[in-house]
Amino acid sequence: MTMKICVLPGDGIGPEITAEAVRVLKAVDTGFETEEALLGGCAVDATGSPYPEATRALARDADAVLLGAVGGPRWDSKPREQRPETGLLAIRKDLSLFANLRPAILYPELADSSTLKPEVVAGLDILIVRELTGDIYFGQPRGIETREIDGKRQRFGFNTMHYSEAEIVRIGRVAFEAARKRRGRLCSVDKMNVLETTQLWRDVMTELAREYPDVELSHMLVDNAAMQLVRAPKQFDVVVTGNMFGDILSDEASMLTGSIGMLPSASLDERGKGLYEPSHGSAPDIAGQGVANPLATILSAAMLLRYSFSMAENAERIENAVRKVLAQGFRTADIYSSGTKKLGTRAMGDAVLAALDS
Ligand code: IPM
Ligand code: MG
Repeated sequence: MTMKICVLPGDGIGPEITAEAVRVLKAVDTGFETEEALLGGCAVDATGSPYPEATRALARDADAVLLGAVGGPRWDSKPREQRPETGLLAIRKDLSLFANLRPAILYPELADSSTLKPEVVAGLDILIVRELTGDIYFGQPRGIETREIDGKRQRFGFNTMHYSEAEIVRIGRVAFEAARKRRGRLCSVDKMNVLETTQLWRDVMTELAREYPDVELSHMLVDNAAMQLVRAPKQFDVVVTGNMFGDILSDEASMLTGSIGMLPSASLDERGKGLYEPSHGSAPDIAGQGVANPLATILSAAMLLRYSFSMAENAERIENAVRKVLAQGFRTADIYSSGTKKLGTRAMGDAVLAALDS
């Protein structure tokens, strides 16, 4: 049976970086069928919707989805239902991709690219498990309304944070299982000193821990976690948290590694079907110039092989090839430092392809 990958290049640098990842995927296995569709701003321009029906049909039918990035200033002033980000949230929800895995690994060659001291980040290997289909991102009611408050008619903005026990258990299990396969430590991040939703989060994680006696569970308040991530990031193995805190902490963690241009991500449903995308955005400032770093997308393709296609060996081949090009001194502009060789997007793809077979 031929595996089908739905490719969503998206906006900005998305098309350039996904092209390289597709080349790498096809080089490790010729048995994939890829089909492209529109998501984000390009979809708004073509159809008026950031997640058109044709894309939905293709994504639902595929065995896995590879995404570039969506968004750009051109669409920022559009009504919310026509914003690229709305398309991204819609596909996550539509495909029930509740488990977002964001690894932050520091490649030794890039220790100098981090803004933190090399000794603070050397050997860093964190996995952030972010819940992706709940929380204040999707909670109702939400909106901006005009209301009478304190005798004055004024605008009023509101969102709703909520989690059900089942939603917490399901993401908790993903995190405990991941910790079990790694160094056996899980830190659950919440704000239980203020928010009831996250008190429930902490209670449920604590109860769940009884089923995983081999995993050491700890809890941390999100403000402290933000601080600890820059103070002593190597204390973390797996971090599990809700949608909103995970969004913020994963950006923070990415910069520990030198460049957000290196970080892949996987968003999985209950059966392991997934959407794979770099953790970074669409970088409209450098779009079309052929200078973007394709490595995060290439590493996302490796995650695709590992999690959706159970091809761990091929995933490792790609990850080793990325390590090799870094060791060879090849860099894109975002991770360039003097003494290394600066490559464009396509040339970096070529270097990875060459390293696959060497
Ligand atoms: C991310 C992004 C998205 C999010 C935006 C683009 C909607 O920041 O994937 O982290 O907030 O989830
Ligand atoms: Mg984010």
